[in-house]
Amino acid sequence: MAATALAKVSRLKKPSVGQRIRGQAVPASFAPFSAWTDDLLQHMDQRDAWDRFYARRGRAGTPCPFDWFFGYKEISALLGSILRGLPHGRARILDVGCGTSSLGLELYRHSPSPVHVSCLDFSSPAVECLARLLRDSPPPCHPLSELDCHLGDATELSRCFAPGSFHLVLDKGTCDSVLRGSPLRAKRLVAECLQVLSPGGCLLQISDEDPDARVPFLETAGGAPVSVGEVAHLNGISYYAYTLSRRAPDASEVARPTEPAFESHRPGALSEI
Ligand SMILES: C[S@@+](CC[C@H](N)C(=O)[O-])C[C@H]1O[C@@H](n2cnc3c(N)ncnc32)[C@H](O)[C@@H]1O
Repeated sequence: MAATALAKVSRLKKPSVGQRIRGQAVPASFAPFSAWTDDLLQHMDQRDAWDRFYARRGRAGTPCPFDWFFGYKEISALLGSILRGLPHGRARILDVGCGTSSLGLELYRHSPSPVHVSCLDFSSPAVECLARLLRDSPPPCHPLSELDCHLGDATELSRCFAPGSFHLVLDKGTCDSVLRGSPLRAKRLVAECLQVLSPGGCLLQISDEDPDARVPFLETAGGAPVSVGEVAHLNGISYYAYTLSRRAPDASEVARPTEPAFESHRPGALSEI
């Protein structure tokens, strides 16, 4: 599934040098730099720093999505291709470290096929803001689509979700953040993402990290082959989609995720791990 989807993205290229802070691209909305954005960039693995960041954005006015790197549009074709390769029925998707990104919201709104998107972050100001955005969002294209928000730690996903709960786990910039603090915690994040995937399911990471560094890390952390393709090239920076798949099911196995361990939530409802 992942290989098919990635065949549609452009061939792998070396990243060019762009505006970066210690190896990570900086969202355009961060310029010009200030003390508070600098605070975040120095402490990207720490919940307090993200709380301060999202709380400050929340105080700035009407809630609006904030996307790291870029939004839904840039990877909607790739996501569509992955979703079309899934077993028939409602797709279970986890956006891990969702922040207040448009990714989960737009997928929920625009997917022509039914999706159940779970968005999880450890920052409560982010999760509360996302829940508000969801309440203000127009209804989804498909009446069976659902989105729920969860406050929790991405390195402890199995405390919240049963093994095999999801067809697809999305990670846009989250592993990058965790890696800044501790590679061991980042390995735990990858292992937990794979644990909650159903057999044949796919972990999709979006990152600006050079494949020379990310591929060996993911191969070690995930114990599975990694596919990579460039998905965007913005302001001189290359962005990559890395995918890892769980072992495909035998003919005797059913490639459907189990129902999640948590109760189903109304759109906008919050649950805390
Ligand atoms: C670089 S931002 C990306 C946000 C969002 N995915 C996007 O594309 O805009 C990293 C996000 O991961 C969250 N995060 C970092 N470490 C986490 C952890 N251990 N558990 C849950 N969320 C985490 C942060 O709160 C932040 O929202």
